[in-house]
Amino acid sequence: MKIILIGFMGSGKSTVGRILAKKLGFNLLEMDTLLLERTGYLTIADIFSQRGEAFFRDQETALAQTLAQQSKVVISTGGGTPCREENMQALKMNEALTVYLSLPFELVQKRVGHDSTRPLWKNVADAKTLFEQRGPIYLKAADSIVDASKDPELLAEEISQAFERRT
Ligand code: S3P
Repeated sequence: MKIILIGFMGSGKSTVGRILAKKLGFNLLEMDTLLLERTGYLTIADIFSQRGEAFFRDQETALAQTLAQQSKVVISTGGGTPCREENMQALKMNEALTVYLSLPFELVQKRVGHDSTRPLWKNVADAKTLFEQRGPIYLKAADSIVDASKDPELLAEEISQAFERRT
């Protein structure tokens, strides 16, 4: 059994994932970090600028396949991971609770609007379009939805309780 955190950039997947993994005694697998290790690049922005988004997405899919057999882990996905159904199919293998960290666009903008390290945050209008496209994808992939505007400690507690109820 494992927990998969999905949601838009800035929803707190890594922060909540870290607290949650500690609470449950699970390992945290951060897909963006693992992807950098696999590819040898230093930043996600470098991958996008030197190899393009298609390369990044293919690496992301290859990585998701390698995580299929993992158990007792919290997987913090990249914001775009659920966009390929095959990624979620692989990640969800062997029982998983998939949690969507949902938050309003205004809060996303506040959290990541000034972060130049995110290649998919070019301007507010494009980011908003992406945000709107992604909403239904996250909903479809999720088993449960939490309000990601809450404090990360509270969120981690909420998710761990939902997880304990399921196991
Ligand atoms: C992406 C989100 C990023 C990272 C890459 C692509 C996306 O992860 O995987 O820049 O498509 O939304 P975070 O959600 O952790 O920022």
